[in-house]
Amino acid sequence: MHSYGSPLYIYSKSQIEFNWNLFEQSFESHPHLICYAVKANSNIAVLNILAKLGSGFDIVSLGELERVIAAGGDPRKCVFSGVAKNENSIKKALEYGIYCFNVESEDELARIEFVASSMNMTAPISIRVNPNVDANTHPYISTGLTENKFGVGSDIALSMYKKASSSTHLKVCGLDYHIGSQITDLSPFLEALDRALELIEKLKSENIFINHLDIGGGVGVSYNQEKTIDIKEYLNSVIERVGSLKILVEPGRSIVGDAGIFVTKVEYLKQNDLKSFAIVDGAMNDLIRPSLYDSHHQAVLIDNNSRGINDEWDIVGPVCESADFLAKNRNLTLEKGDYIAIMTAGAYGFVLSSNYNSRPRVAEVMVSGIKHSLVRKRETIESLFENEILFEDETH
Ligand SMILES: Cc1ncc(COP(=O)(O)O)c(C=O)c1O
Repeated sequence: MHSYGSPLYIYSKSQIEFNWNLFEQSFESHPHLICYAVKANSNIAVLNILAKLGSGFDIVSLGELERVIAAGGDPRKCVFSGVAKNENSIKKALEYGIYCFNVESEDELARIEFVASSMNMTAPISIRVNPNVDANTHPYISTGLTENKFGVGSDIALSMYKKASSSTHLKVCGLDYHIGSQITDLSPFLEALDRALELIEKLKSENIFINHLDIGGGVGVSYNQEKTIDIKEYLNSVIERVGSLKILVEPGRSIVGDAGIFVTKVEYLKQNDLKSFAIVDGAMNDLIRPSLYDSHHQAVLIDNNSRGINDEWDIVGPVCESADFLAKNRNLTLEKGDYIAIMTAGAYGFVLSSNYNSRPRVAEVMVSGIKHSLVRKRETIESLFENEILFEDETH
């Protein structure tokens, strides 16, 4: 970080590969496609590492699709999720020949059919079913309940499948669901799977046959030594239940979460009767998970020299919000100039960053063995307002 500056995201290539291979090896010889969820970390260097492993991708926007292609990914291995696909993104996705549209509503199905017919093409589709299963995760990242905006209930799904199977511009390919993120218990996954399998049986009785089942992402990572899901055990139970059906999986967090850290420097130490604050140069605009989800990331002192002041520190940033914290009540021995690593920050870290308080977004670095290099430049101050235009309302 001395040469790249601070704050900074650092990713480990070998950890990304290790995590992806855990999924790959668990499938053994069962037909499958791993579609990495680009939203978790969309840096093209990350996507390129995964593309080289043969990964597919789960995208939710045209921007993500273009990133995948720029990174050397294969559009024919992409599934397109998201509740609000516009006409242009559908058109482009068809031109690129994506693997499947994960359709989230009746209106969207009609739009995809309309765009495909105007291009005289056939769109491959899967219907995203909302299984109404509680994922026991933070409400903001729970997606499989009827109260959530995602997918459709099984009755609507059935009528959408009937409609799609009678259309010349739609090809029924699969069925998908995604019940939420940071799930640390197998049971909601298996419950959702059972609901999906019931619907697949119903479809068969209507003579509608699918080629793949997409079980979404959602596998949790260990932020604070909590126990998470054994991926092999999870995929084995899925394989046992689905017969010969091809399985698609959309992991995001579990591929990149523990492959990244966020490094920040202590600028000031400030103590009062009640609290001790380590004021650092990184902030909620760089890593919003603690403020947004009250999430816990371990904070580890880099180059621990055991000088400084031992205390229970709140690690807070320069942004003018009391919600601007990266960690609370951490027992550390700190002095000004120390670097702190905020651990397990590879997923939903940089991608959720913003320019709030006119702070340039930070740099990203990839490490592989002893090699390290910049994979995203730190933004400049000038770039923050280069798209802005003065409003001239004076009449001359
Ligand atoms: C449709 C879909 N698939 C996959 C994912 C990835 O989830 P995770 O990062 O928890 O694996 C998400 C994220 O919320 C999603 O919305």
